[in-house]
Amino acid sequence: MNKTILVTGGAGFIGSHVIRLLVNQYPKYQIVNLDKLTYAGNLENLTDIEKLPNYTFVKGDIVDRTFIVGLFEQYEFDAVIHLAAESHVDRSITNPMEFIETNIIGTVNLLHAAKQQWEEDYSDKLFYHVSTDEVYGTLGATGLFTETTAYDPRSPYSASKASSDHLVMAYYHTYGLPVVISNCSNNYGANQFPEKLIPLCINNIKHKKSLPIYGDGKYTRDWLWVEDHAIAINTIFHKGKHGETYNIGGHNEWKNIDLVHLLCDIMDEELKQEKGASRELITFIKDRPGHDRRYAIDATKVKNELDWVPSITFEEGLRATVKWYLQNEKWLNNVTSGNYQKYYQTQYTTPSK
Ligand code: NAD
Ligand code: TYD
Repeated sequence: MNKTILVTGGAGFIGSHVIRLLVNQYPKYQIVNLDKLTYAGNLENLTDIEKLPNYTFVKGDIVDRTFIVGLFEQYEFDAVIHLAAESHVDRSITNPMEFIETNIIGTVNLLHAAKQQWEEDYSDKLFYHVSTDEVYGTLGATGLFTETTAYDPRSPYSASKASSDHLVMAYYHTYGLPVVISNCSNNYGANQFPEKLIPLCINNIKHKKSLPIYGDGKYTRDWLWVEDHAIAINTIFHKGKHGETYNIGGHNEWKNIDLVHLLCDIMDEELKQEKGASRELITFIKDRPGHDRRYAIDATKVKNELDWVPSITFEEGLRATVKWYLQNEKWLNNVTSGNYQKYYQTQYTTPSK
């Protein structure tokens, strides 16, 4: 079936993997990637598919309501997969307002435009909101987040995502807008901006810089390979039930320090250096304020109802990720030097000769 799908935040880490999957797997879908190209948006993530006839890039800001309404009128979208967000907890601590604007106002602008465009006939329409497990707050040593765990966000990032989730459900209950939400655990893989733990450590090991571990290093996260997240999003987009939430996770809990030890050992092997060399770079530093102790997802619902499970082990995914960063030195150098921000200028605004 033909569909025109708006994907927001498609130049970011997860969004670029979602777009690649959709344009390759569904030639009949028109995929429109709307992205503001903040520091986290990088069109170099999509060079392999940018010329495909079913892909269009639009530069724009989801906070600009007039622009968003106009975009819906222009393209008559059948569906939205909403990933655009400010996504880094540390940045939300230093600059919460951007998180409130993009993650809350931006989401309600999209909901408003979708409702306005679709309300005469909601059939075959879908608003898919991509969210995080961080909305559930923090766990003690035991227990898992399920879809019915009460929301208890504790950082400006997670509070803004929790607000956006509530607004999505409000549009479902109040206006009947067909929606679905997924809440996923920490992702890792190719194309992640090197401010997040895994690519930051890979980049620092390469440059023999210290590996900053917050607090005692025993904070725990449940890690999922980004391509498995993209497959889960595709599955939920096609098979998920309206008004439902699905938790997505890797059944893969790691204390930060244990993860960094494993990463150091893989880096030593891949760089052919003495075992233990990278571990010497580990430095414990002052903790993140309000640091959530443990996240862990119960992904039984998406497994039982939609038949999705992660496809690879963490050791496989982490090694593949290390290899990707080492083989894509230009990508990493462009990101760390800021050069990637010139790509849009040369690729999209220079007239062809
Ligand atoms: P990212 O920071 O890598 O990418 C975000 C993208 O959104 C960027 O391309 C950026 O330019 C764009 N963007 C930001 N503000 C915008 C605006 N106002 N208008 C239009 N575009 C804008 O983030 P990510 O890690 O790919 O996360 C994508 C989504 O998945 C987010 O909603 C995040 O909350 C959610 N999520 C992320 C993780 C994770 O581990 N990274 C886990 C669960 C859920
Ligand atoms: P991060 O990748 O920022 O993801 P999130 O905060 O969304 O879980 O951090 C993952 C874990 O690693 C988290 O417990 C914070 C910790 N961390 C460090 O110890 N040092 C760092 O430099 C970073 C970026 C994160």
